[in-house]
Amino acid sequence: MSRVAYVNGSYGPLSDAAVSVEDRGFQFADGVYEVWSVFDGRMADYDGHMSRLARSLTELRIDIPMTRQALTVVLKETIRRNRVRDGIVYLQVTRGAARRDHPFPAPGTPPSVVVTSRSVDQTRAEAMARKGVAVITQPDIRWGRCDIKTVGLLPNVLAKQAAREQGAYEAWMVDEMGLVTEGSSTNAWIIDQNGKVRTRDTQANILKGVTRTAILDLLEQEGLELDERPFSVDDAKQAREAFFTAAGAFVMPAVSIDGAKIGDGKPGAATLKLRQLYLEQARRDAV
Ligand code: PDD
Repeated sequence: MSRVAYVNGSYGPLSDAAVSVEDRGFQFADGVYEVWSVFDGRMADYDGHMSRLARSLTELRIDIPMTRQALTVVLKETIRRNRVRDGIVYLQVTRGAARRDHPFPAPGTPPSVVVTSRSVDQTRAEAMARKGVAVITQPDIRWGRCDIKTVGLLPNVLAKQAAREQGAYEAWMVDEMGLVTEGSSTNAWIIDQNGKVRTRDTQANILKGVTRTAILDLLEQEGLELDERPFSVDDAKQAREAFFTAAGAFVMPAVSIDGAKIGDGKPGAATLKLRQLYLEQARRDAV
């Protein structure tokens, strides 16, 4: 079955889908995006991603392209037309197409909206989670507004590629103080030697992950103690458990960092429990 994309008001074959070469997303990475996990054709953490989208657009002064209701119809229709049961749906909104010039285009220039959706092999993802994955570290060379979910992802792309070239699955980025900020496309967590769950606070220059927020609520339910404070690469090497979170990855155990085993080199029990609880909740509450 051929895949379908939504582009600026119409649905068509993904292979023909296109925006203008003068689209500001292409010219300047002047756009934002969101990714929802899809379970049984329904979107997980729906409100969290919608709210963050509105925030990202507002922070960059990109016009809201359509009402939330209309956008929901487009997201659901794209999922349906692609016959996605379990997978992801991707939304990108840019400042639109205009003659290449750095300042914002004339008011009223319509934002570009692109939606795609694809299936993810959950059996493979589960097998990966049971074994855990390797992470490496990379210097965090990103800009100062990583709280906005922009399509300006070149440093993230380079970090992820470095991971792949070193046989790892994810790269954790490290600031000039030697503290982990977040993953190239995920939030980073450890359970430290004292059994406290550590993840960097979102006052800092990281994305406030929607999955991260959901996990914070689950920690409370599970009676796990949270310490929302940055950790170093050494802290991660000495941690009992480590994992990272994102739409699509859910809760993925990290079993080594820069080649050093974390804990016994196997996914930790608390990590796997959080994964299971998150998946149950996300499936149940998907819309
Ligand atoms: N990435 N940090 C970064 C840099 C991210 O790109 C992401 C998400 C996250 C986790 O956010 P959330 O839990 O809301 O998905 C953290 C998406 C999945 C992506 O780029 O494909």
